[in-house]
Amino acid sequence: MPALFVEAHGIPLIGLGTWELRGRTCARMVEQALRLGYRHIDTAELYDNEHEVGEGLRAAGLKRDAVFITTKVWPSHFAPRDLERSAQQSLTRLRLPYVDLLLLHWPNPQIPLRDTLGALCKVKREGLTRQIGVSNFTVALIEEAVKLADEPLVCNQIEVHPFIDQSKVIAACRRHGMTIVAYSPVARGGVSRHKVLARIGKGHGKTAAQVSLRFLVQQGIVVIPRTSRLERLSENLAIFDFELSESEMAEIARLARRDGRIVDYAYSGSPQWD
Ligand SMILES: NC(=O)c1ccc[n+]([C@@H]2O[C@H](COP(=O)([O-])OP(=O)(O)OC[C@H]3O[C@@H](n4cnc5c(N)ncnc54)[C@H](OP(=O)(O)O)[C@@H]3O)[C@@H](O)[C@H]2O)c1
Repeated sequence: MPALFVEAHGIPLIGLGTWELRGRTCARMVEQALRLGYRHIDTAELYDNEHEVGEGLRAAGLKRDAVFITTKVWPSHFAPRDLERSAQQSLTRLRLPYVDLLLLHWPNPQIPLRDTLGALCKVKREGLTRQIGVSNFTVALIEEAVKLADEPLVCNQIEVHPFIDQSKVIAACRRHGMTIVAYSPVARGGVSRHKVLARIGKGHGKTAAQVSLRFLVQQGIVVIPRTSRLERLSENLAIFDFELSESEMAEIARLARRDGRIVDYAYSGSPQWD
C-alpha cells in the first residue's frame, strides 16, 4: 500500500471491519478485500470469526508483513492471566505468529486498569502483538491509561461518523499522539440516506458513504467500514482520488450531535461518555 494511505503508527487508513461477518462470507470478504488492495483487517475475539479471518488471509496469499491485523480482548478477559490466554488463543484461531495491534475492546471498571495494562504491555513485549491500544476509552480513561502503561498506547478505536460529536475524545487522543480508528464510519449504512452527504457526493461523482469515509480520512482518522457485499468493498476503498473542500468539511462537521451514538453495550455499565 502506498505510504500515503498509512498513518503515523503504520496503520493503513482504511481497513475492513468484520463484526457480524461469519463463516464462508467472512473468509471470502477478507480474501476479496485483500485482492482489491485493502491491507488492514479488524477483528476481535468477540466476533467469533478469527478463524475465518485467518482463512481469508491465507487465501489471499500475501506475505504476513504486507497486512495489518487488529484483534481485541473482550473485558471479561481483562484479569492478567485471562488476557494473556485470550491473546494466545486469538493467534491460534488466526493461525498467525503475531497481530499488529491488540486492543482492550471495552472498559471494565471491575478489574484494575493497572493490572490489565500490565498484562497488555507484557504480551506486546513477548511478541504476540506489534502494538497495543484501547477501544471505547473516554478522556478520563485515556488520561489514566497513558499514565499507567509502560509501552505506547497507539490508538483508541471509537465510534466516529458525521452524526456523532467525538471532539473531546479525539482531542485527548491527539494530545497523547494516539491514532483515532473510527468504527461504524458509515453509521451502519445510515449515511447513505443523508441529503447533505448525497449532495456533496454528487458534486464529486461519489456516494454519500464515500463522502463520510473521506471526511474522516481527510482528518487523519482511520476508517474500518464493514460490508458483506463485494461491490461495496470497492466503493468504500475508492476514497483517495478526491478531496473535500474546507467548506464541505465544515458543512459535514455541523451534522454532529451529542446524542448521535449508535453503539452502547453497557458492559458493566457504560462509561460516562464525553
Ligand atoms: N471497538 C468496538 O467496540 C466496535 C464496535 C462496533 C464496530 N467495530 C468495528 O468496526 C467495524 C465497522 O463498524 P460497524 O460494522 O458497526 O458499522 P459500519 O461499517 O458503519 O456499517 C456497516 C453496515 O453498513 C452497510 N454498508 C457498508 N458500506 C456501505 C456503503 N458503501 N453504502 C451503504 N451501506 C454500507 C453494511 O451493509 P452491507 O453488508 O449490506 O454492505 C453494514 O450493514 C465493525 O465491523 C467492527 O470491525 C468495533
